Amino acid sequence: MTINQQIQHIQVSGIRRFDEAISEVPDIIKLTVGEPDLPTPAHIKKVAIQAIRDDWTHYSPLMGFAALQTAASNYFQKKYGLTYAPSEIIATVGATEAVATTLMTILNPGDAVLLPTPAYTSYKPVVSIANANLITIDTTRDGYKLPPATLQATLEAHRSERLKALILNYPTNPTGVTYTHAELAALLPIIKAAGLFVISDEIYSELTYEQPHTAFATLYPEKTITINGLSKSHAMTGWRLGFIMAPTNLITEMKKTHQYLVTSTSSISQAAGIEALTHGFEDGPDMRKIYQQRRDYLVKRLSEIGFNYIYPTGAFYAFVQVPQHFPGNSWQFATQLANEAHVAVIPGSAFGETGEGWFRISYAASQAALRESMNRLATWYAATTTKED
Ligand SMILES: Cc1ncc(COP(=O)(O)O)c(C=O)c1O
Repeated sequence: MTINQQIQHIQVSGIRRFDEAISEVPDIIKLTVGEPDLPTPAHIKKVAIQAIRDDWTHYSPLMGFAALQTAASNYFQKKYGLTYAPSEIIATVGATEAVATTLMTILNPGDAVLLPTPAYTSYKPVVSIANANLITIDTTRDGYKLPPATLQATLEAHRSERLKALILNYPTNPTGVTYTHAELAALLPIIKAAGLFVISDEIYSELTYEQPHTAFATLYPEKTITINGLSKSHAMTGWRLGFIMAPTNLITEMKKTHQYLVTSTSSISQAAGIEALTHGFEDGPDMRKIYQQRRDYLVKRLSEIGFNYIYPTGAFYAFVQVPQHFPGNSWQFATQLANEAHVAVIPGSAFGETGEGWFRISYAASQAALRESMNRLATWYAATTTKED
C-alpha cells in the first residue's frame, strides 16, 4: 500500500516521542510537554458546565460563534492594540490547527517558507505536507533571535526560490527568548521589500517577564497572519481553542481550509472561550506571576549546578546546554538523565539540527516538582562530573 509520501517521511514530534519513551521510568518527574500544570480558572469551567446543561452542544458557525469572535476582537485589541474585526477571526482547534490551516491555505507546491531555528515542532511537517520547501535560519549565534542582516542574507542566498512567508514565534518555544519592539521593527523593511507573509505564532504572548509583548500585526497589518489561543494564557490546552487573525481577503480563503479540516471547533470550548476572553483578562497575568517565580528559581538552581543556559524572558521554557563532558548527543543525554536521575527533559534535537547539544526544560510544573527535579539534577551532575574528571 502506498500512502502519501510526505506523510511517510514525517514523524510524530520528538517532544511526544521522547515523552512516551520515558513514561515508564519509575518515579519520573516530567518537565517535558509544554503544558501548564495550573487548572483552567474556575469561572471558565463553570460557564462550560452551564453550556452543556443549556444544550450548547451543536455545530457552531464555521468560524466560531459571533460572540466568541467579538470577545476575541476586543480582548486582543485591549491587550496588544490589534484591530481585527470579529469577521477577521477564525476560532480553530488550538493554535495547532491555526498553523496547519494557515500554511495549507497560503502555500503552493514549491513555495518556500523561512523559519528561524531551533523552532517549535509543528511548522516543518505541515510545510512538507503542503509540498513546499522550508528554509531554516540558524539563530544559535545571534542569541536565538533573527537579526535583520541574517534575514537579508538568507533572502539573497535564496533569490531564485518562490519565497512566500516567514514564520515568527515569540516568545519562542523552545528557547524562551522574545523580541523587543525595536528588534521586530528592524526586520520590517526587509520583510516588506520581499513581500513576505508573516505567520506570527504568538501563543505565549501573555508570558513575557521583562517587557511588554509587541504583536507583529501592529507593525505589518496587511500581510501578517496572527496565531494565538487560550492554551497557555488560560491553562486551556485540553479545550483545543485557538485563533487565526488576518485581513479579510486571507480569512475568506482560510475559512474553506478550516471547514474541510474540522468544520468548527467544539461549541462547549467556545462557550468557555467567550468567558475567558470577556472576564478572564487578568487570568494570564496572574499565572505569569507564578511562572516568573518558577523561572527565577529555576535559573538560580541551574546556575548553582553549573549549567549554561539561555536566560528565558518569555514562555515557560529554559534552553540548557548539555554539559561539555557528556559524550553523547542530546537525545542520549536526556535518556540517561531520565533513567539515572528520573528527571525528564526534551532533547534539543527535537527542535531541529540547531537544537543539538541542548535540552529544553518546561517549568510549567509545580514548585515542589521543580525543587525535587533540581535536587536530583544537582546530585546527578555532581556524580557524573566527578566520574568523568
Ligand atoms: C509555539 C507553539 N505554537 C503552537 C502550539 C500549539 O498550541 P495549541 O495547544 O493551542 O494547539 C504550541 C504548543 O506547545 C507552541 O509551543
